[in-house]
Amino acid sequence: MAKRRFLVLSDIHANQEALEAVLRAVSRRRYEGVLCLGDLVGYGANPDPVVTRVRRLPRLVTVRGNHDKVVCGLASAENFNVAARRAADWTAARLSRENLAFLKAMPQGPKNLGDGMWICHGSMADEDAYLFSDYDAYEAFQHADFEICFFGHTHFPCAFRQTKAGIEFHPLKGEVAEIVRNPGERLLVNPGSVGQPRDRNPWASFGEYYPDVGRFVLRRIPYAAERARAKILRAGLPENLGNRLLVGT
Ligand SMILES: [Fe+2]
Repeated sequence: MAKRRFLVLSDIHANQEALEAVLRAVSRRRYEGVLCLGDLVGYGANPDPVVTRVRRLPRLVTVRGNHDKVVCGLASAENFNVAARRAADWTAARLSRENLAFLKAMPQGPKNLGDGMWICHGSMADEDAYLFSDYDAYEAFQHADFEICFFGHTHFPCAFRQTKAGIEFHPLKGEVAEIVRNPGERLLVNPGSVGQPRDRNPWASFGEYYPDVGRFVLRRIPYAAERARAKILRAGLPENLGNRLLVGT
């Protein structure tokens, strides 16, 4: 029997070049489901094509991100910096009515997918909170009885593993990296960002999860970041939103 496999995508941020490169890289692979951890839009120059493409993914499960909420008017941009706010206003004016409605209808995390699998955007208790530290992970582990929870928002690929001895932090580095959940252990896993990586590796980041063996594989692939940057500049969006794509910050 073929092993079950899920595709895990987060923080695409309207980067069509990065999304297409990822989907091209996995086009021959079959997935039990596509888990999308929010922030489809914001920062990048192609919000409408990106939302349209994500909506077409088979067996898609999503939670909303903070940028999705602001762009569709469900939250204010008061916590955003100037560049994020400008991008959110620009984005809202460029989405079709259907795609705005899709963003508005994206569910708030955390979401329990069954089989011990959960997803959220920021953290378990607060979709807008950043999960960076061991203590943040500890609180998330306390919050619900998951075996594995995928989260995004920090754009930093990593895992926290809860064992009998405590919580371990594992940055997920390199072109391919993996982490396994052994029986009795629990994992919090961030697949990094498809469209705006911030770990000083500019390649698009995403993951695949094999629930039957508790194995998560992080993958990085190059994409046309220069083209994505040029579109951002041409759109009149803040220059740094384009430049950072080339260095992964
Ligand atoms: Fe994000």
